[in-house]
Formats: sequence, structure tokens, C-alpha cells
Amino acid sequence: MEVKDEMLPDKLLIHGGRKLNGTIDVQGAKNSALPVIASALLLCDETLTLGAVPHLYDINTMKQLLESLGAQVSFENHHMKIYVPEKISYNASVELVRKMRASSIVLGPLTARCGKCLLPLPGGCDLGDRPLDFHLKALTKMGAEVELSHGSIITSVNGRLKGADVRFDFPSVGATQNIMMAATLAEGTTYIDNAAKEPEIVNLADTLRLMGADIKGDGTETIRVIGTEKLHSAKNTIMPDRIEAITYLLAGVMTEGAVCVRGIDSNLFSAVLDKMADAGVCLDIFKNEITAKYVTPLKNTSIKTMPFPGFPTDAQPQFMAFLTKAQGISIVEESIFNNRLNHVDDFNAMGADVRVTDNIAYITGVSSLHGASVHSFNLRAGAAMIMMGLAAHGDTIVSDLKHVWRGYENLIPKLRSLGAELEIYE
Ligand code: EPU
Repeated sequence: MEVKDEMLPDKLLIHGGRKLNGTIDVQGAKNSALPVIASALLLCDETLTLGAVPHLYDINTMKQLLESLGAQVSFENHHMKIYVPEKISYNASVELVRKMRASSIVLGPLTARCGKCLLPLPGGCDLGDRPLDFHLKALTKMGAEVELSHGSIITSVNGRLKGADVRFDFPSVGATQNIMMAATLAEGTTYIDNAAKEPEIVNLADTLRLMGADIKGDGTETIRVIGTEKLHSAKNTIMPDRIEAITYLLAGVMTEGAVCVRGIDSNLFSAVLDKMADAGVCLDIFKNEITAKYVTPLKNTSIKTMPFPGFPTDAQPQFMAFLTKAQGISIVEESIFNNRLNHVDDFNAMGADVRVTDNIAYITGVSSLHGASVHSFNLRAGAAMIMMGLAAHGDTIVSDLKHVWRGYENLIPKLRSLGAELEIYE
């Protein structure tokens, strides 16, 4: 089933104050599925078959992008099959790239496979500037020519890319993924230093290895890729979505209930679980089931977002929502993006007490929140606004939900199964 615009409501009406209790099965990770799907572009007359692909708006955009480049894609019941013929286009559609910034993940695979890529500039976004300079510098080091023309990035290479020693100034997730993919078809060996260590990098490397790539060191700060001429068909499964799991666990505690997430390893988000424990949450971790239970009033704690294994920026708005109800003053420092605290005014409109100075938020806990009409500024801020609505007294309307559908599959039924009362607001 494809996720289409008309199926996605723009507003939710939440009748807050119900405790969330119960268990949810965790979806496949959006941020793993996107690069893994893009990695199919490295294939030539071969097929990549994937399980546990979440049915999300962004996944549909990536599917359309691959189709527009010439791939044949089927997607049913979380199974995706991508056949990539010998001849594909290197020209990414403006319309699709503008819809989803993560489309830039086709840059590495297309440059390696076609010797060329034309990528309309995805531009900044509401999280901040988000340049692609690390990706471009690394491709240049690997022998590609890079030019910016008429609002597009154009890469071209004579023959194959060459293995190179690449070092990123910051462990960028997307740049690590793009260069790791490009290096699989390069001539010689590529070393990526100061690479991102996120588990989604490991899921991508596993997929590439199943396609015949020679990659070592993924999950550490140095990755080595020995290039090969051709990759072959493979099957893999998308890892569970740690950010979805964190969102439901925090929503459960914020509403003074207990939520269990099933099908995910706690090591994928220990930094968040440690901070939940600091705040007084009772955690029960057993194999692939994690339960977070509200037992006593929450206590203040502080976080700073960092690359993995640090506290993930994608859980920052949700954790801040949770801290609005913790006694004392908590501090949240956003160090990955320069504009990811724009949900604060809407939090305050619901009775929270948050002040921001220089990308640092100071949160004074309040005993109760009240309903209001608020916006979702981006995917994770939207999830946080829904959590605020669930925990508040009275009714909350959250609008601009288009952002939320990019990353949360079946959010409404999942929340209802936990006891939430919410409805689509026309
Ligand atoms: N950066 C540069 N130059 C570059 C690349 C990155 O300066 O060439 C900077 C960025 O501007 C940012 C920092 O490095 O300040 C980190 O950016 P990164 O490249 O790691 O982020 P990304 O790959 O664009 C992915 C996720 C984001 C997540 C970040 C950080 C996907 C599709 N997106 O983005 O997910 O926040 O890593 O972990 O994997 C989300 O799911 O809500 C989301 C935004």
C-alpha cells in the first residue's frame, strides 16, 4: 500500500489526559530504509529485496525517485523489491528532491554507477542550513568533477571513481552513507575517517556486504571499503526505528502510564534510556522488549544532542516535551542543528515554561499542561506536539501533520491501541 497525500489528514484533535498503557511493535527505521533503498542504484540488471520497510510518506518519495530513474519497484506489506536495469538515468527529479531533502542520498550511488549525477540542490530546511559540502569534497577526492549549475549539483567522473582517504570535519550520517556507497564501485580502497557510527550506517553496510561489497569498520570512526566492479542481487531486512520507539516510551511516561515497545534492542538508544532513568522513569528491559513506566513525579535532568552513541537529535523535541513535566530546571542543548528548538513557543502556549538562549533550552517543570491549537514544525517537533496534547488537560489541535506522516507509520491506530483519544480534525 502506498502512502498518498489524500490519505494523510492535516490536523488531529487530541482529547488529552488519558494514560497510555500497552505494547506496540516497532516499525522499520525510516532513516535506515532511505539509504538502503537508494543503495539499489549501485546494481546493474540485479534486484534488491527488502523486508520491514515502513509504509511512510518519505519512503514513497524515495520509491518514486528510483522509479523516475528507471528502476522497477514493488512495495506491499513492508516488502520492497527493486529491480535496477542496465540503463538508468542519472538525473534526479527536482520535484521529488524538493519534497524530501534525504533524496541527496542518491548522489553517491548514481555518481559511482553512472559516472554522473544531476541533483537539484535540496537547499536548507527548517532544522538549519544543512549543506552538502562534505559529500562533495569527498567525491572530488575520489576523482569526480563537481560543478554547481542552474541550482543543481552536477558530478561527473571519467571511468570509475578512485579509492581515496576521506576525512569528515564532522561525522555526518548522510555523507558517510553517500561515500560508503560510492566507494563500493570505486577502483581501489577508500578510508572514511571520522565516519558517523549510527546503527543505520551498519544496516546499510550489511546490505552492501550482502550485495558483494567489501566493507569493514562500519559502526566505528574509520570505515574501509575495497571497491569492486559489480555488485549483485541481495535480500536484507530494515532495522527497527529507534526514534519511533523512544517517542512511544516517552509518551507513555508523560501521560503517567506504561508503554512497552517490542522488537528493538535497547543498545540502539542507551543514551536516551539512561536519561529517562535519571529522570525517575522505571525501566524494564528484557531481550527485545522495553517498558517505561511512570512511578513517581519526574525529576529534572539535562541532555546535549550528540552523534551516536550520544543523545540523538531526532529525539530532542520529544525528550523536551517529557521534561516540561519534570520537577526542577532541566537543560536541553541542541548541538547538531542550528535551528531545532522552534517548537518551544508552542510548548509554552500549552502551559510549559521553556526559555531559549543560543541553542540551549532551560525548562522549568510544571505540574500540568493545558490544551491549545499548535503546529508541527517538522517531523520530530510534530511528534512532540502530539505527546504534549496527549499529556495535557483538555483538547489540543495539532496542525501541519504532513511532517509527521514522513516518519510515523500508523500513528493514529497505534496511539488508540494504547488508550489515546484522538480524531482527525476537518
Ligand atoms: N553537515 C555539514 N556538511 C555536510 C553534511 C552535514 O555541515 O556536508 C552538518 C549538518 O548541517 C548538520 C550536521 O552536519 O548540522 C549533521 O548532519 P548529518 O549529515 O549527520 O544529517 P543528515 O544525514 O542530513 C540524518 C537524518 C536526520 C538526523 C541527522 C543527524 C536521515 C534521512 N536523516 O540527516 O533525521 O537528524 O542524520 O542524526 O537519515 C529525522 O529523521 O527527523 C531527521 C532529520
